[in-house]
Amino acid sequence: MSQTPYRIAVMASGRGSNLQALLQAISVGTLPARIAGVFSDKPASGAIALARESGLPAVALSPRAYPSREDHDEALFSEIERVQPDLIVCAGYMRIITEAALRRFEARMINIHPSLLPKYPGLDTHGRAIAAGDREHGASVHAVIPALDAGPLLGQVRISVEPGDDAARLARRLLPREHALLVASVGLLASGRAQIASDHVLFDGRPLTAPLQLGDDNRFLEA
Ligand code: GRF
Repeated sequence: MSQTPYRIAVMASGRGSNLQALLQAISVGTLPARIAGVFSDKPASGAIALARESGLPAVALSPRAYPSREDHDEALFSEIERVQPDLIVCAGYMRIITEAALRRFEARMINIHPSLLPKYPGLDTHGRAIAAGDREHGASVHAVIPALDAGPLLGQVRISVEPGDDAARLARRLLPREHALLVASVGLLASGRAQIASDHVLFDGRPLTAPLQLGDDNRFLEA
């Protein structure tokens, strides 16, 4: 392993299962990286509790304490800057990020979203997939740009929608696959095989024309 491990800042508002998946992969040695800090808008979130239990730097700034979205982002992203991340992973960070904040970390931010983007940006992705009669559902990892759940796609994982699925069951079945997708995606970025450019993702030096697809062995089929 290199002397200076790849540094990841995680942004999260929720329970923190994606953070847990990254920590697990780091601890068993499948992801050569370290979590440099966890950042949230929700002081009582599971992600912040997990970060503290794990002895990680954890900063939660409630938006209520700031006069504007810009001020809140300015404060939170200044905290992120202090840990000098190579990559910011948005793992269930449930606020829209201002353009000024995104510019500070251009080409260094990814998001995981529980749908096969460009289908279903926003909320209730599982319910919307079922309501549409989709036979397939999944999750996507993409570079963050100043638009919600948009930005060049790096990777996706797909699962079949089963007859007994409701939104909760589908979400539950997808979650472990989502975790594997995130770990594999961060692994590619940490190794340098994938790189984020302004309007595309490079894989082995070439622009991706379609997102990489995660196989059952938790590796990308193309990698
Ligand atoms: C995940 O489903 C993620 O895809 C979405 O928000 C959820 C976060 O879950 N953006 P967790 O907090 O990592 O458990």
